[in-house]
Amino acid sequence: DKPKLIKIRDTTENRGPRVKLFGWVHRLRTQKGVAFLVLRDGTGYLQCVLQGDLANAFQTQNLTLESSVAIYGTLKEVPEGARAPGGHELVVDFYEIIGLAPSGDDAITNKVQEGADPSYLLDYRYLTVRGETLSAVMKVRASFLRSIRRVYDELGMTEITPPCMVQTQVEGGSTLFALDYYGEKAYLTQSSQLYLETVIPSVGDAYCIAESFRAERSHTRRHLSEYTHIEAELGFLDFETFLEHIEEVLCRTVDYVLADPVAGPLVQELNPGFKAPERPFMRMPYVDALEWLNEHNIPNEEGNKFTFGDDIAEAAERKMTDEIGKPIFLTRFPLEIKSFYMKKCVDDPRVTESVDVLMPNVGEITGGSMRIDDLDELMAGFKREGIDTAPYDFFIDLRKYGTFPHGGYGLGTERILAWLCDRFTVRECSLYPRFTGRCKP
Ligand code: 4AD
Ligand code: MG
Repeated sequence: DKPKLIKIRDTTENRGPRVKLFGWVHRLRTQKGVAFLVLRDGTGYLQCVLQGDLANAFQTQNLTLESSVAIYGTLKEVPEGARAPGGHELVVDFYEIIGLAPSGDDAITNKVQEGADPSYLLDYRYLTVRGETLSAVMKVRASFLRSIRRVYDELGMTEITPPCMVQTQVEGGSTLFALDYYGEKAYLTQSSQLYLETVIPSVGDAYCIAESFRAERSHTRRHLSEYTHIEAELGFLDFETFLEHIEEVLCRTVDYVLADPVAGPLVQELNPGFKAPERPFMRMPYVDALEWLNEHNIPNEEGNKFTFGDDIAEAAERKMTDEIGKPIFLTRFPLEIKSFYMKKCVDDPRVTESVDVLMPNVGEITGGSMRIDDLDELMAGFKREGIDTAPYDFFIDLRKYGTFPHGGYGLGTERILAWLCDRFTVRECSLYPRFTGRCKP
C-alpha cells in the first residue's frame, strides 16, 4: 500500500489508513523494546511509537534530536497529554533517516532553553528557533500580521511599499543609521510616515508594514535596532476619530488572532488567561499622567517630582501602566518632547494632538499624532528642531498642493507581540533580533 503523505496538522482526518510524514526528531525516549519519539514538522508535534524489532533496530542506530526523518505507520487516538500532543499517536511500521544531527554533549538542540546564556542562545538562533516557545511566537506573529492586514483591508485602506533608504529623519537625529549612498549621505529609515502622508491624495487612507531602523544606544527590554513597523495614515478626520480608529484596529486585530485556530490556542499557552482589551481605552492626557505619577511617588529621570515638559521615561511609564493594568491612551504631549510634525491642540498650544498607546508589561506599543497641515507652522517646527529642510521638499510641498487635515501612527510589531505573548523582551518576538553589539546570524 502506498501511504498517504500528510502533515501533522492533518492527523485527525487521517486516522486509520497507513500514512507517511516528514519531520525532525523533537524529543526522544527509549526503553527496552519500545521507543517514543515526538516528531515536529512545523505544523505540529506528533508522538510516534516504535515497538519490538523496530525499536531495537532504532536504538542501535543512535538517532539524535534534530535529525530529519521520514516516518510511516498508522494513526490512533490516545488520551491527550504532554507526551501525546493533540491526542494522537503514530504506531510506526517503518522509518528512514534523512539527515542525522550531531550527537553528544556539544550538540545544539531545540532543548537548549531556559537558564542558558542569552548571547549563546542568540548565536545559535537558527537552531533555538526550533524550540516550542519561539516557534509559537513566530506563528502568533504571522497571524498578527495577517489579521491586521485583514482589518486594514476591511477598512478600505491601501497597502504601500515605501523606500527603506532615505535622506530624511522622522524621530530625531540621534538614532539614525547613516550610510554612504553613491557619495551622498543617506539613512536607513526610522519611520515611513512622511512617505505615507504623500499617498493619501493618491490612494486614500494607507498603511505599510516595513522594517524601521533605530541606532538605539541603550540596552532595554523593548528597543531593537531593526523592527517591523506597522504604520498608517488617514485623511480628513479629527483627533477623537483618530483615537477611535486606533482602538478599533487594535481590538479587531486581537480578536482575529484569538479566533485563529492556530494562533489563538498558542496565545493562551504563552499568556494564560489573556483577554482581549475592552473598548473604549482609558484616555489620559499627559498632565493628568504627571499628576498620577506624583501622587504615586514615582519620580522623574532626575529623581524629582514630575513637572510640565518632563519626558515620561520607560521605567515610570511601565510602572504606571502595570499599576493601571489595562490599555491607556496617553494623549496631549508637550510640543518640546515630541517631533516637529505634530499638530498643536486648539485649546492649549503648549500641547499636541498626540497619543501613545500603553499596554501592561510593555508600556508604549504605538505612537501617533495629527499632523501639522499648515505650511508656516510646519516650517516653524523644523526650525524649532534645528532640521535642515532641504531633503524635505517633497513633504513640505504637500502643504502647498491641496493641504488637508490628517493623522497617523506607528505600531511596533515586536512590542505588541511581547504584550500578546507575555514575553519579557521584544528580542523574543523578533526572528533574528538586532541591537547594540549584535548583527548576526
Ligand atoms: O513612537 P515612534 O518613534 O513613532 C514614529 O516613528 C512615528 N513616525 C510613527 C507614525 O506616526 N507613523 O515609533 C512608533 C512605534 C513605537 O510606539 C514602538 O512601538 C515602536 O514603534 N518602536 C520600536 N520598537 C522596537 N524597537 C525600537 N527601537 C522602537 N522604536 C519605536
Ligand atoms: Mg514614541
